[in-house]
Amino acid sequence: MTRDTLKLGAVLIGVGDASGKGLWRDPAVPLDASVNIEWYVKQAREAEAAKFDFVFIVDSQYITPDFPNHHLNRLEPLTLLSAVAMATDSIGLVATISTTYSEPFDIARRLASLDLISGGRAGWNIVTSQDPGTAGNFSRTGHGDYETRYRRATESVKVVQGLWHSYEEDAFSIDRTAPRFLDPAKQHRLDHRGEFFSVTGPLNIQRSPQGQPPLIQAGTSAQGRELSARYADVVFSFARTPREALELADDVRARAKAASRDPADLLFIPALGVTIADTDEDAQRIERLRTSAGDIAHGLAGLSRQFAGHDFSVYDLDAAFPEIASPEAAGISRFHDDIERKRQAGATLRDILEGQVSTWLRIAGSPQTIANTLEHWYASGAADGFNLFVQHPADWERFRAEVVPILVERGLFREDYAARTLRGHLGLAPIGNRHAIETESEAVLA
Ligand SMILES: Cc1cc2nc3c(=O)[nH]c(=O)nc-3n(C[C@H](O)[C@H](O)[C@H](O)COP(=O)(O)O)c2cc1C
Repeated sequence: MTRDTLKLGAVLIGVGDASGKGLWRDPAVPLDASVNIEWYVKQAREAEAAKFDFVFIVDSQYITPDFPNHHLNRLEPLTLLSAVAMATDSIGLVATISTTYSEPFDIARRLASLDLISGGRAGWNIVTSQDPGTAGNFSRTGHGDYETRYRRATESVKVVQGLWHSYEEDAFSIDRTAPRFLDPAKQHRLDHRGEFFSVTGPLNIQRSPQGQPPLIQAGTSAQGRELSARYADVVFSFARTPREALELADDVRARAKAASRDPADLLFIPALGVTIADTDEDAQRIERLRTSAGDIAHGLAGLSRQFAGHDFSVYDLDAAFPEIASPEAAGISRFHDDIERKRQAGATLRDILEGQVSTWLRIAGSPQTIANTLEHWYASGAADGFNLFVQHPADWERFRAEVVPILVERGLFREDYAARTLRGHLGLAPIGNRHAIETESEAVLA
């Protein structure tokens, strides 16, 4: 269990999400990459051979025809990762599940199942869902505002955690001759009654190898930060600069301290995109070509998604950016704040569209330059690791074959796995069953 090296995640996004618009046109990417399990397995095995901490599957449950290609036709994360689990043996498997559109009993059960199937490699990216249209797919009349969705998320996480304590480690003390299948004293109901959920329990699956798969949170609004501070083991972000990443980490750590957690327990892992060539100049030239290939219609659709479906195609691209009320229920708060700042500084719609490509950390450079930048972020305390979006296969190959070895040589990344669970890779302390701990302390007091 170490925290003395940086953590690496590989975000597998098939034919490309909003961050990889032109990806599907690369002849090296299968046209069915987002529904092709062999493609996911291949990439996960490659990530495992490079000793990555985890692969990560993003998700949502609402589309219109102009959504990014990957969103239009993709595999469900838990199903996908169960298949990947059978083809790998060490790498962590992080699935996105929405607390807004799932019941905690199902979340607890599905993740415990993946944890058992994979021998302790499951992780949960907790999201509240960005697209208000999702409500229409779940028999709901509304998506709920931030406050409501995050309150529900908080309660959902508590219930899921509680359900994972349903069985003590040795509850199934099976004896065929006795005969005894279960020790009923080691099975526990939850009896939760809250604002959103009533859950009696117990969960109908044994305690999984990790007990509690790592909890990951990526919302950066005040509500998102609070959720991270109280529950997350890992905070994902789209920080663009070390300064922005440090501001987030300092704030969430202060909130964690206020909630009586050790701030050092939290890991901060920003997203990363790379374009790699022999020289920085070549890489930047390729990056410019790729950026200009992203068409205006796609950009407008992406913007619309951040503003609850607002139609931006009616505006003059070169006029001042329209003043639109920030939608309460949709999008990413940091993105809205950013746009508002640019709007006040006189940005046009075109300026905003062109600026969209830099909403997260993208490095175009030689393997050396990329390793140097990652080292700088890591050494300055801005990041505990990086979530690499796997885009063009050539960059993916060069990252593993050329960037990772530089990181290993500098002692910044592991040479081999020291653990077989995701908690182990991330250096997270084991979590004992709360009922067993109670019984033990009662025994000590008696
Ligand atoms: C690396 C990363 C991955 C994310 N993946 C998803 C996802 O798969 N599904 C989703 O609905 N939101 C995803 N999000 C969005 C956040 O979970 C969150 O909903 C969003 O940032 C809006 O919340 P906020 O306004 O509190 O920041 C992701 C964010 C980040 C930084």
